[in-house]
Amino acid sequence: MYWKMSCFLLVCLFATALGNPAAKMDSKRDHCNKTVEIYEDVSSPPVTSDNFGRPLTCTYRFRAFRGSPKDWILRIRFKKFKVGTLINGTTCHKGYLQIVDGNAKTDVSNRKEPGLFCGEIEQPQTFISETNFVKIVFHADNFTDQTYFSFDSRAEQQFEVYLRYGQHPELYPNRRGEVVAGSYCERVFRDCRLQTCYVQSAAYPGVYPRNLHCRYHLNTRLPYIKLYIENEEFNIDGQRCENIMTCPMRPITSGSENCPFDYIRIYDGKDESAAVIGTFCGMGKFPYSIIGTSQDLFVEFVSSPAGPLLNTGFHFNVGNWPGHVEAPGSRVGTCDWQLTAESLKKSGDTEGIFLSVAHWYPPHTSCTYLMQGFPGQVVRLYFPSFRINRIESPIVPWTGDCGESLTLYDAPRPDDARIIKTFCDTFSRPMEKHDFVSTGNAMFVRFESKTGSYSGSSLYYWAHYDFFNNTRFGEPVPGTACDEVIASWKQRAGRLRSPLNTLVYKQAPPGEDVHCLYRFVTDKRIYARVILTILSVNFKEHPYTPVSCQNCYEDRADKLIIWEPSEGSKYANSTVSTTPLPLHLAVQRSLGSCLCAKHANTVSRTRPYRVVSSGESLNLQLIVDSAHAAASYFKNPSPLFEARYEFVHGPLCGPAVLAAASDGEIVYPHLEALGYTEPPKRIQCIWDLEIEEKRDIWLHFDRIKFASRHCEDGNIQIYLPGRVEPYLSVCGENVSLARELPILSAGELGFESLDDPLVMDKEKTRSIRIVFIGSASPARATFKIAWTGLYHLPKNSDGTLMTSRLTDGGSIRNPDSREGCDFICPGEEGLCIPARLICNGVVNCPNVTVKSERKFWTAEEKRAREAYSEDSLRRLGYLDALGGIPLGSLHDEAAELCAGVINVGGSEWMAPALGAALAVALAACAVGAAWRVCCRKRSPDEESLDY
Ligand SMILES: *[C@@H]1O[C@H](CO)[C@@H](O)[C@H](O)[C@H]1NC(C)=O
Ligand SMILES: *[C@@H]1O[C@H](CO)[C@@H](O)[C@H](O)[C@H]1NC(C)=O
Ligand SMILES: *[C@@H]1O[C@H](CO)[C@@H](O)[C@H](O)[C@H]1NC(C)=O
Ligand SMILES: *[C@@H]1O[C@H](CO)[C@@H](O)[C@H](O)[C@H]1NC(C)=O
Ligand SMILES: *[C@@H]1O[C@H](CO)[C@@H](O)[C@H](O)[C@H]1NC(C)=O
Repeated sequence: MYWKMSCFLLVCLFATALGNPAAKMDSKRDHCNKTVEIYEDVSSPPVTSDNFGRPLTCTYRFRAFRGSPKDWILRIRFKKFKVGTLINGTTCHKGYLQIVDGNAKTDVSNRKEPGLFCGEIEQPQTFISETNFVKIVFHADNFTDQTYFSFDSRAEQQFEVYLRYGQHPELYPNRRGEVVAGSYCERVFRDCRLQTCYVQSAAYPGVYPRNLHCRYHLNTRLPYIKLYIENEEFNIDGQRCENIMTCPMRPITSGSENCPFDYIRIYDGKDESAAVIGTFCGMGKFPYSIIGTSQDLFVEFVSSPAGPLLNTGFHFNVGNWPGHVEAPGSRVGTCDWQLTAESLKKSGDTEGIFLSVAHWYPPHTSCTYLMQGFPGQVVRLYFPSFRINRIESPIVPWTGDCGESLTLYDAPRPDDARIIKTFCDTFSRPMEKHDFVSTGNAMFVRFESKTGSYSGSSLYYWAHYDFFNNTRFGEPVPGTACDEVIASWKQRAGRLRSPLNTLVYKQAPPGEDVHCLYRFVTDKRIYARVILTILSVNFKEHPYTPVSCQNCYEDRADKLIIWEPSEGSKYANSTVSTTPLPLHLAVQRSLGSCLCAKHANTVSRTRPYRVVSSGESLNLQLIVDSAHAAASYFKNPSPLFEARYEFVHGPLCGPAVLAAASDGEIVYPHLEALGYTEPPKRIQCIWDLEIEEKRDIWLHFDRIKFASRHCEDGNIQIYLPGRVEPYLSVCGENVSLARELPILSAGELGFESLDDPLVMDKEKTRSIRIVFIGSASPARATFKIAWTGLYHLPKNSDGTLMTSRLTDGGSIRNPDSREGCDFICPGEEGLCIPARLICNGVVNCPNVTVKSERKFWTAEEKRAREAYSEDSLRRLGYLDALGGIPLGSLHDEAAELCAGVINVGGSEWMAPALGAALAVALAACAVGAAWRVCCRKRSPDEESLDY
C-alpha cells in the first residue's frame, strides 16, 4: 500500500525537520485567515462561544522561507479532516475545504475552479502541489467541534518527489509531458519510449484536486502505442468511497455507467473524436495494458466538483508494442485482409507475414485473411511462433469455451465444411512450424473474439504464408504427395519434371524418403508403348555427408528409377498396382534403369536418355533422401529431372514384341485394328523382334508400299541390338534398298558378348527393333516384313563343314537340329531351316549370298551334305515326290518339292488377285463394324479418344 509507506516516511521526515515542534504549535493556533510558515502545524480554530454555531471561513497561505529550494513545491499532510458532508458529485453539505494550487503568477493553476473536498478521513492524506503557491480555504456553515482539520507542510525540491519524477529527472525534463499554456493539467507527450513518459493525475502521488478535466495527448514514434501501469496503484473514484470503513473499496471497473464521478477515458487516437477504448475507475492494481491501433492515444481524466479527500489517481507509462507489420496486401475492412500472390510477387518477397491482432479490439471482433494464389497454386501457412494464452484483458468477460478462436479454411471463404483447423483459447495447443497447405489456390483464415481485448489477442502468432505452383502433369494419385498417373487417353505426348511444388520435399514422414511415382499407362485400344526421354538429371550433393552413387539402386543417393511393371509376374499383382517394385527385385531382375547424380553430366537435352517400354506401362520414380530433401530442394527452382513422354504403337501396329521364334512376320497395318473410325494422322510403331542365340536372321520385305517418296509419309528404320544408328532406313525414295537385305549374322546381332554365365536368361533375349513412322491413314503405307531364323551347319574349328555330324546316324548333337536344320538351303553357306518352314508359302531360304571367306565345298563335303539332305527329306516324306532332281539346287518353296504337298502354312497375306488397298478396305469395313457393335458399351468415352 503506497499511502502507508509514504505516511511513515513523512512522519520520519517531519520529526527530523521540525526540531522542536511543540513550541511553534502553541503560538498561532487560534488564528484563522493567515499566512502560515512552512513546517507550521495548522489546526482549525478552537470552538468558542463567538464562533460556535456560526458560519466560519478561514484562508491559509504558505510563506516561503529563506533557504527554500528554488523549484519548490509543497507537501501538505492532513492529519485530521472532518468538514461537511458529501451529498453527491457536485454538492458538499454544511462545509468544505478548497485547495488552490498556483496563482495568477504561476504558469499552472486550478484557482478558477478548485472544487470542494468534504467528508471525513480515516487516515492522514497528503496533497503534493504542482506549484510553489498553495492556498487552503476552509468553510463551515455551522462551526462546531464536529468540524475540524489539521495539517502540516514542508517544502521540497520538485525532483525530490521521486514517485512523481522518477529516476534521473534531469535527463527527462518533459517526462510528465509539456503543459498546455493556461491549463492546469493538459499535457502533450511526444515520441514516448521506455520510461520517458509519465502520465499522471494532477498532484500525483498525492490526492488529486477536485473539478479536474485533464487531457493527455500521447504519442510514440511507431505503432502500436501502449499505455500501462507497472507497480503503481490505480485510485480514481470520487464520491462513493469517502469512507473506507463504511464503503468497501471498489475494484477497478469500466464503463461510463459504472464511473459517474471520477474516471479516466482512453481514446484510440489524437483526441475526443477517436473511438473510445474504455472508461475506468476504481482502486487497485490496473490489470492490463491498453494498446492503441496507431501511434497516438488520448486520455481524459475527470474528477467531480465535489468529493472526498482520498483518491490519489494514477501513473501510467507509455511504450511501444512492436507487433506492427505492413502486410503486402490490401485491407478491406477494419481488419479484413486480402493477401494475394500477385501483391506478394510485386513486393519481391517469397513469403508474406501477418500477425495476430496486437492492439485493442472491441467484443465480437472478426478479422479475416484471404490468401489468394494464382490458378494452379496452393497456399501454405505456417506459424514460426505461436502461443495460446488465456484471455487476459477482455473488454467483456466470457466464461464459456472458445472466447477467441482462429480458424483455417481450405477455401476462399469461411466454408464450415472445409475447416483445416480451429485454435481456441481454452483448449487448443499451438502448432508451431507446421505447414498447413490448401488443396486449392486459396486459404481463408478467420480470427474471432467474443470478448474483445484491451491489449491484443490471446492467440498470439506470427503467420507466414507463401504460394507453390502445384501444376501436375498427369492425374494426381489421391493420398500421395506427388504420385501421378499419366494416361495415354488423356494426352498423346507431353513433358514432365520433378514436382514444381517443392513442399513435397519437406512433407515426407520422418525417416521416410521422398517418393514420387509416375505411372505411364496405356489403353491397348489406343497405344501400347511408352517412350520416356529423360532430358536432364540434376541432383544436389548431400550437404552434410556426401553420398556416392556407385551402385545407383542400393546407395542411399537421390535417384530416378525407370522400370516396367511386369504383368502377371509374382511381384506385381496387377497393372494398376501403385507399389513400386522393391529395389532389390528391380536390381535382381535387371529390368530397370537407375539414374543418379553421376549421370547428371551424361544426360542432357542434346544427349537425352531414352527408354521405350516393351509393354503397356512404364514407371518412373523419383526417390530423394529424406535426410536432406528439404535442405536441398525445398524452394529450389531448378528441376531434379525433366522428361518428355510419348505414347506410341497404336493398334494399327499390332503386337509390339514378337517373341523369339524361327520365323515370323510384321504386317502393317494390323488388319484387326482397322475398326477405328478416325485413324490418327501420324503413327509411330516400334516392334521388337526377339532373336535367339546363335542364329542368323534373314529379314525380307514381302511387300512394301509408301504413300509417297517423302520420308514424312513413311519411314522404316531397323536397329540392331545395342546400336544407336539405324542399320537400315527406308522411305519411298529409296525403297529398293529393302529388296536385297543381307543376312544378319549372329555376330552382328551381338550374341557373342553374351557368354557371361552371370547374365541371366531373361537378358539373353535380344531384339532387333523396327520402327515405322508415317502417316497413318490405313491405305497410305502398307508393308509386310518377314523374317527367318537360320541355322548354320556345324563346322569344324578350321571352318570346314563338320561332315561327320551330318551323317552320324542322323542323330546330331545340336538339340535344335531336330527342328532346326532340316532343310539345307541352296548356296554355298550351308544355312538351314526347320522342317515346318518348307513349303509354307513364304520363301525362307535367302536367295542372297552371304559374303564370306568360305568358298567351295570339297567333294567329300558335298557328298556328306547331299546324304544329309536326302536323309532329312526322306524322313519328312518329301523325297518320293522329287523323282531324282538334284537336291542341292532346290529352294524351300520349289514347285517340285511342294507339288502334292498340301499347302499347310499358306499365308493369309498372299491374296495376289486382290489389290492390297481393296483388301484393306474390305477388312476395315468388316472389322470396323464388328468393333463398333461390340466395344461401344465397354468404352463410353470412346468418341473422345484420340482415335
Ligand atoms: C477571513 O477572511 C474572509 C475574507 O477574506 C472573511 O470573510 C472571513 O470572515 C475571515 N474570517 C475570520 C475568522 O476573520
Ligand atoms: C448548529 O449545530 C448545532 C449542533 O449540531 C445545532 O444545535 C444548531 O441548531 C445549529 N445551528 C444552525 C444555525 O443550524
Ligand atoms: C446533488 O445534490 C443537490 C442537493 O441535494 C441537488 O440539488 C443536485 O441536483 C444534486 N446533483 C446531482 C447531480 O444529483
Ligand atoms: C506453374 O508452372 C507451370 C509449368 O511450369 C507454368 O506453366 C505456370 O505458369 C506456373 N504457374 C505460376 C502461377 O507460376
Ligand atoms: C498379390 O495379391 C494377393 C491377393 O490379392 C496378395 O495376397 C499378395 O500378397 C499380392 N502379392 C504381392 C507381391 O503384392
